Parts: sequence; structure tokens; C-alpha cells
Amino acid sequence: MHPLLADHRRRAADLLSEQVFAYFATGAVGETALTEAPRTWQDRRLRPRVLAGIDEVAITTDLLGASLAAPILFAPTAHQGLAHADGEVATRRGARSAGLLSVISSRASWSLADVGAAANGPWWFQVYTMRARAITDELVRRAVDAGATALVLTGDTPVVSAKHRLPNGPPEAVSQMPPGIGFDLCGGLPQHTALAQDPTIGPAEIGRLADLSGLPVLVKGVLRGDDVARLLHAGAAGIIVSNHGGRQLDRAVSTAAALPEVVAAVDGRVPVLVDGGLRSGADILVALALGADAVLVGRPVIWALAAGGATSVADMGHALIADLRENLLLLGCADLAQVRDARRAWVAPAP
Ligand SMILES: Cc1cc2nc3c(=O)[nH]c(=O)nc-3n(C[C@H](O)[C@H](O)[C@H](O)COP(=O)(O)O)c2cc1C
Repeated sequence: MHPLLADHRRRAADLLSEQVFAYFATGAVGETALTEAPRTWQDRRLRPRVLAGIDEVAITTDLLGASLAAPILFAPTAHQGLAHADGEVATRRGARSAGLLSVISSRASWSLADVGAAANGPWWFQVYTMRARAITDELVRRAVDAGATALVLTGDTPVVSAKHRLPNGPPEAVSQMPPGIGFDLCGGLPQHTALAQDPTIGPAEIGRLADLSGLPVLVKGVLRGDDVARLLHAGAAGIIVSNHGGRQLDRAVSTAAALPEVVAAVDGRVPVLVDGGLRSGADILVALALGADAVLVGRPVIWALAAGGATSVADMGHALIADLRENLLLLGCADLAQVRDARRAWVAPAP
């Protein structure tokens, strides 16, 4: 793990209550996928070229119309107000000052209007399609009004998996929980009932959200190459390989293992992103060398938020960018197109 991320994590553990820290840290059930994730990146080795004659690497990235300083995004995570009073507003400010993009959760603490006004530049909205379709649609409309430039439909959460590390029940039981962005739409019902996800949705939901918003819709949570065809057929503008940071199906395959088959199935038609356990420039480099167009980090954003709000979020982004740049130079690779080129065979199997 990059030392700054480790430092933020320690500070978050000191500053947050035990229950709130556990809510962010936990995985599903036996925490198999959670524990496995960092190792799957660390276990890959890279094959550097010598005398590559490079003194600068190009890592700026164009992703669905967004110009980014690097192929790094901040993953949608719920209830960021529990980590820091400024929550998603601070995350978005921090992301933008590092030239990166944040994806804001359907379970955000701050209003989408505030998130939109927090900074200039692109941001994406993550959608949970709820049984109460009218609430989903109203949140999407608010996101569009507030300037979101793409939607991320999370497909891996028909139900929220049990999390045994939370002795006092689901996050809704966290006593400091501020009201979320859908609170005013709940009509007096408890949030977790009124905002429950709809497990019956299928690929048609992609087109429905695209029509409603006029925005590109990415699908998050993909772990199989043979899921890709029906998602692209239904209009997916991008694929996010994810096992939800080990918080959904506990025995789900690791994203490092799933990435190559998804990249092969997509075959360059839309961008492929990946997340889960990525904690350093070297981890990110491995993901890119396995064919990802960009990566997302989840918990490191929360640790940074807790440690020092927008400033620490920006510091974390800058640190990962610098680390990625240095690793690319050491690999002898000049740009992102080269690193993704499978013919160059940058990745070696585990030792
Ligand atoms: C506390 C927490 C809350 C999350 N909430 C959401 C969410 O609301 N929507 C979603 O699509 N993913 C959610 N995720 C999953 C993240 O978007 C992302 O896939 C995952 O955190 C990446 O793994 P990492 O934390 O190891 O970097 C959440 C993850 C965490 C840790």
C-alpha cells in the first residue's frame, strides 16, 4: 500500500468511531473477496524494458468526454458524511483539484445540487434502481440538473449482503447517520425500506436510464466475459469490473482474475474500468497492463476524507498519480496505449 494511503487509514481508524470505521472497512460475510483483493494485484509481476529512452510518460486520459490527469476515478461509496462533515462535496473538490473524477453514490449524504456546485468539471452519478422507480428517476433528474456527465448503474446488488463485522446491524443503525439524498422522497418511511433496490431489473434498465437522462450509462459489477454481449447490446457505454470491494457475493472471483476475460469480450468497443483493492501506482499499472482503460479506488477516498477532508483527498489523488508515473517510467513504457497493448506482454504470472 502506498505510504500516504496507509497513513490516512491509520488516522481514519483513530478519528472515526469503531462502528463507523467498521462500516467502511467491512466486507461481506467471511470477507474472502475483501481479503483476497489486494494480494491479487500484488502477486502480478511486470517485465520492464531497459534503455527505453523515455524521460516523460503520458497518462492524461479521455474517458467518455471527461479529460482526466490520469486514468484514476474515485468509486461511489455510500454515506460519506459519516467520514467527514463535508462528505461528497469534499470528495468532489479533492478529486477535481487532482484532475480526477468522482462517482457519487445513490446513497450520498450531501445533496446532488451541492455536489454539482462544489467544483467545475465532470462527475458521474451511481444509480441503484429502487423498487420505488419514481425516487430513482427523481435522483437521476437531480443529478442531470446538477451537471453529472454519466450514470453508473450498479448491477451486483439485488440485495445488500450480510456484513458480520457490523454487530449492531446495517449502516442505517449507525447512530451518527445523517439523512441521505433520497430522504426527502421517502414519504416518512425509513430510508432503508423506501430506498430498497429492485432485484428484478435486467439489461433493459440501461436503455431506460439513458433515455431518462440523455447520458451514457456504464454498468458496474461485471465479473464475466459472457455477460458483456447482452450489456453492450442493451446500450452500455462502459463496463466496470468490480466485486463491490468484497461487500456483495463473498466468494466472487477477484477483479484481477476477471479483468482479462472481460477486456477480451469487450474488444475495445467501450471503456473497461476496474476496482477492488488497488492501493498503489504499481497495482494500478498492473490493472492497466491487463487491459483496463481506468481504475477506481474506494476506501482510500474514505480514509483520506476522514483524515483531512478535500485537502487529503487531493493529496491522495496526487500521490497515486505520481506513483503511477514513476512505475511507468521504471517499466520503460511511454504511454497508456503501450501499457494496454497485450502484444507487449508486460505482465508475468505470480512468482
Ligand atoms: C463503505 C462502502 C460503501 C459503498 N457504497 C457503494 C454504493 O453506494 N454504490 C456502489 O455502486 N458501490 C459502493 N461501494 C463499492 C465501491 O464503489 C467500490 O466498488 C469498492 O469500494 C472498490 O474497492 P476498494 O474499496 O477496495 O477500492 C461501496 C464500498 C464501500 C467500501
